[in-house]
Amino acid sequence: MLVQTRIAATTSVIIRLASYFFLRWALFPPVPPLVFALLAINLPSFVLSHRATPTFEIVKEVDVVVTDAAVEDKVGDAVFEEEDVDITSSVFVRPRPLHALRTLLLGFPSPSKLLSLLAALTNILLALFVADRVYSEHAMTGQDLSFVRIGYVSDTTARFLIREPDQAKLPLTMEIRVCDPRPLSDTLDWEVAGGVRWTDNTTDYTAVLNVPLPSKRQHVYEWRTSNNHSGEFTAAPGAGQSPTLHGGNFTFVATSCMLSRVPYDPRDHPLAITGTRHLAKVLPTLGAQFMLFLGDFIYVDVPRWWGKSVSDYRQKYRQVYASPDWQPIAQNLSWIHVLDDHEIANDWSERQTGIYHAAVDPYDHYHAAANPPLARRADGGSLLRGARANATYFSFSQGPASFFMLDTRSYRSSNKLPFDSTSKTMLGAEQLADFLAFLRRPEPPGIKWKIVASSVPFTKNWRVNTRDTWGGFLVERQIILEAMWDAGLQGTGVVILSGDRHEFGATKFPPPAVDGSATSGKQARWPPSVAVHEFSASPLSQFYSPVPSYFQSGDSDVKLKYINRGNSKFGVVTILPLAEDVGSSVEAKSSQLLYRLYINGEQVWDTSIESPRAIQGPKARPPFFLGKLFGQR
Ligand SMILES: *[C@@H]1O[C@H](CO)[C@@H](O)[C@H](O)[C@H]1NC(C)=O
Ligand SMILES: *[C@@H]1O[C@H](CO)[C@@H](O)[C@H](O)[C@H]1NC(C)=O
Ligand SMILES: *[C@@H]1O[C@H](CO)[C@@H](O)[C@H](O)[C@H]1NC(C)=O
Ligand SMILES: *[C@@H]1O[C@H](CO)[C@@H](O)[C@H](O)[C@H]1NC(C)=O
Ligand SMILES: *[C@@H]1O[C@H](CO)[C@@H](O)[C@H](O)[C@H]1NC(C)=O
Repeated sequence: MLVQTRIAATTSVIIRLASYFFLRWALFPPVPPLVFALLAINLPSFVLSHRATPTFEIVKEVDVVVTDAAVEDKVGDAVFEEEDVDITSSVFVRPRPLHALRTLLLGFPSPSKLLSLLAALTNILLALFVADRVYSEHAMTGQDLSFVRIGYVSDTTARFLIREPDQAKLPLTMEIRVCDPRPLSDTLDWEVAGGVRWTDNTTDYTAVLNVPLPSKRQHVYEWRTSNNHSGEFTAAPGAGQSPTLHGGNFTFVATSCMLSRVPYDPRDHPLAITGTRHLAKVLPTLGAQFMLFLGDFIYVDVPRWWGKSVSDYRQKYRQVYASPDWQPIAQNLSWIHVLDDHEIANDWSERQTGIYHAAVDPYDHYHAAANPPLARRADGGSLLRGARANATYFSFSQGPASFFMLDTRSYRSSNKLPFDSTSKTMLGAEQLADFLAFLRRPEPPGIKWKIVASSVPFTKNWRVNTRDTWGGFLVERQIILEAMWDAGLQGTGVVILSGDRHEFGATKFPPPAVDGSATSGKQARWPPSVAVHEFSASPLSQFYSPVPSYFQSGDSDVKLKYINRGNSKFGVVTILPLAEDVGSSVEAKSSQLLYRLYINGEQVWDTSIESPRAIQGPKARPPFFLGKLFGQR
């Protein structure tokens, strides 16, 4: 084979495999430059190969007897030998075989001009698809984007995040009205609930609007703004109170990781986020209170890192909010957010540096600003200022649960430290103290669950890049686990929700069977009922690995279920109303939590867990008004 043919064939095969991988599996950043470079080699070598290859090939060389007059000399059956019989060496040739399939599928040069052209065009088309995926999205700057999204909604206020760069539309007003259940008094009129006077580029033209809710009861409200955005939101039940909507069910959705156009389809909008369409389909049936999004809302570094300035990071957020797939999953749903690495850089584990501040600027304006309240500080703080001024983690209570949304990136020690290092921390000393205080704080009688949002998995069963998960921070993890089991003794079940792995894993963390050595004969410090559960579901729209990476070893992290496949996954958590049985007090009842996993829009797995019954008496509980005050900040 000619050298140029060999080059053309090899580069074709790699272009095809790499493009397929990039477009249909994972937007691996090194692929586009590779494909473009290979195409630059492939096309000329294709032409050269085509030119240099004769269209005929030699079949065999033989000595042939050529008898010019053989036919004429044939008389009857006899053939007369003649003098001009000649013996020469001759070459048999035939047209080179076309190998059409090999040419079309693998892009080997072919003697057929048409086939070769098709093969070369296929390579060009693949490179164009790759370029389309990388560059069309980047061309959408979203500078003019106007949108409104629903942030944190409590029983008394709803928070909206508004972006409006067009000063002609300002000031803008927000109006709301009750729509379900309809009030008896028939006051279905729109009420002006607040407004935004101006926006500027210090916040990328965003503003947060806090809307006080007019009714004490739990309602669904309609909202609309003077710049022509509208939707619905659902007020939350008060802390410890039963929801009055959806038959008393308290439901929310949790997932993480979304990236546009995975897998790629050339017909999609440049900002399409394909996986979210499954959520959009299921959402209306769920009666969800909110979306707990566990990070990787943007992928600043995928498929190409365009820049590390504030404006580069801001553009990534605008691109998500400008996606045609955004409205269907957010017009009527509150979204609250946790920070993860791809909002900064892959596997981020540095302390705060330059790039961190550029990354956190739009995270603050677009996400943190409309998030739940900052978590209370461990020492309680003052009544007016319960959180640390610079905290970046959030906490709230509503209905049957209290929530803590961890920041696992901003205070992290380097991932490179040994996993059992005692000085290694994922949360930082202050956040850890505030989080442990949250876990230890007794809850009002109606709250049976503490839900912890962690961007990275708590289990160490994920064997690939474990050091980026809690598996790399085992000393701190153990301290937290013990506080979680202690919470169980107070009658509060702990559930961890995480994402990041583009896989699903449900894991149980049972307390050790016996305190200290097995021979001490002492009673276990914790009963089995206080076991902690983790549900890690992702991505909402991203690649998955067909090769499994979650394996149980030992008995500290017990595998309940593991599924790696699926480009779109989300979990739906429903806390069911307490049983109506008379006689037992609210304190004595246990609560049932149902977890449902959806993959590509289909429910594929579910499980149900019970909150533990209190073992430490209610004496640890604060007076009711204090619990209420702190619970509902
Ligand atoms: C805001 O816009 C002004 C004027 O165009 C510019 O000078 C300034 O740098 C911008 N600020 C930010 C934070 O982008
Ligand atoms: C408001 O939005 C609707 C569709 O959502 C559109 O038909 C209408 O023209 C818009 N009105 C204005 C004033 O922009
Ligand atoms: C509450 O949730 C459970 C579990 O999903 C479901 O079976 C039940 O129908 C729901 N109740 C209402 C009123 O939606
Ligand atoms: C949101 O609710 C409104 C009614 O207020 C409805 O017209 C609209 O279709 C809903 N949007 C989505 C995406 O479900
Ligand atoms: C708050 O700021 C102080 C001083 O800059 C720092 O030591 C601390 O780690 C920060 N804490 C949080 C939770 O941000």
